[in-house]
Amino acid sequence: MTVEFTPDNVHGLPPSDLVGEDRVAGRMYTDPRLFELEMTKVFERTWVWVAHESELPKAGSFKSTYVGRQPVIVTKDRKGTINTLLNRCRHRGASLCEQRTGHANGFTCPYHAWSYGLDGKLRGIPYPDGYEGVLEKGELSLRRLRTESYGGMVFATFNDSIESLEDSLGDVKVWIDRFMKQGGGYPVKVLGTHQFRFRGNWKIQLENTTDGYHFPIVHRSWMASVDAETADMMSFMTDPSAVTHSLGNGHSVMQMVPGHSDLDVDDGSEPLQARFATLVTELEEAGLDGPAIRKLVRAMHGTGFNLNLFPNVSMSNSFLRVLRPIAADETLIEHVALGPDGPAGIADPVNRERLRIHEHFQGPFGFGSPDDAEGWDRVQRGAQAAPDMPILVNRGLARENASPEGWPTSHVTDETGMRAAYDKWKQMMSDD
Ligand code: FES
Ligand SMILES: [Fe+2]
Repeated sequence: MTVEFTPDNVHGLPPSDLVGEDRVAGRMYTDPRLFELEMTKVFERTWVWVAHESELPKAGSFKSTYVGRQPVIVTKDRKGTINTLLNRCRHRGASLCEQRTGHANGFTCPYHAWSYGLDGKLRGIPYPDGYEGVLEKGELSLRRLRTESYGGMVFATFNDSIESLEDSLGDVKVWIDRFMKQGGGYPVKVLGTHQFRFRGNWKIQLENTTDGYHFPIVHRSWMASVDAETADMMSFMTDPSAVTHSLGNGHSVMQMVPGHSDLDVDDGSEPLQARFATLVTELEEAGLDGPAIRKLVRAMHGTGFNLNLFPNVSMSNSFLRVLRPIAADETLIEHVALGPDGPAGIADPVNRERLRIHEHFQGPFGFGSPDDAEGWDRVQRGAQAAPDMPILVNRGLARENASPEGWPTSHVTDETGMRAAYDKWKQMMSDD
C-alpha cells in the first residue's frame, strides 16, 4: 500500500512508509535522522565494496577507505589474504593510517606506538611493564570485517550473519564476469582514481547510474563533442533492445549498447571505430594478430552497460564509480579508471587511449561528470521544497516485464533500477 505524504505526516512516517511502488518521499534526501539509520541499517549490514584486487598487488599493499562512515584499512598480508581492518587503534582510538594507498610491513600508531601486523594482530607495545596483569595482547587485534571477493571486486561487511558475497551478488555475477572482459584477454587493473564531493544525498547518485532517461538531456554537451560513430553508439533512447534489468538485492543493470554486453559475442560484422586506427597500427607493430586487436579495441568504451551494485559501487564504461556518504546532504564520489594489465607494448597504448576516453567523460575537466553533479546538486536543493511532494520513480512501471532469465525488465530509459534499489532500501531500513 502506498501511503499518501502530507506536510503533517511526512516527517513522522517510518522508513517503510517512505517508499511506495512508484514513488519515494523527498525527505529521503534531507533528513539527518534517516541518514544515521542508513549508516547502521544499510551500510553496516550488507556487503560494501572496498577495493579492486589490483590495488593490492603484493603482501604489504594497503588501501585506506570507508565502510559507510567507518574508516578501514584494506591490506594484503603475508599469506596473501585480503583483510579489512578498522582504522582505529585499540589503545585510545587514534587512526593508524592516513595514507590512501601504499606498502607497509604493518601499522604503528603515531600516538603511543602500539604496533599491528598486516592481519591486524597486536604485535608490540612500548614500555610494557605498566600493562602486567591488566592487558592480554591476543585480545587486542584490530577489529576485522568479513571480507570476500568476486571477479576481482573486494567487499567487506560488519554483518557476521549475512549470506556469502556470492549469494548476495546472485545474478550480478554474470554481469561482473562480462564487465571484466573489457580486459580484452588480459586481467583488468586500476589505472588511477580521482575524487570529488557534491552537496547532495548519496541516493541521488545511486539512482543516477542506471538512469538512462537523463542521458541525452544532461550529456548533450558530451554528445556534441564526440565523433559521429560514438554519438551513434550512445543514441540508445529509442532502441527497443536497450533495456534495464533488476537483478535482485537492489542491484540493477542498464544495457545501453546491448551488442557489446558480452564482448566474446562478435560476428565480425561491426567495423572498428575509425578513431582507433592509430592504436590498431601500434598493436600490429607490437605483434598482435587481428582477432586479439579486435578484442581490445571493441572494449575501448567498456562493455556497453552500467551495473549498479547496492549500496556503494557502480561499474560503468571503463571505470568504477564509488560513493561514500558523508552527511544527509553531502557525498564523496571516487572514479576509478580501469584498463588491461598486460605487457607494456600492448597495455600502454591501449590504456593511454582508455584514459583519454575516461577523462573526456568522467575526468575532472570532462564533459560528463560536472553535468551530472549539477543535476545532483539541484535535486538536493529542489527537494527542500514541499516535503509532501514525492520523488517519482514510476517511469515504465506499466511496461515492466520479466526477461527470459526472470529479471524484471523495462526500457533503458525506465526507472527499474531506482525501484530495485529503493525496494532493497525499504527492506533493510524496516528490518530490526
Ligand atoms: S592511541 Fe594508539 S597507541 Fe595510544
Ligand atoms: Fe549522467
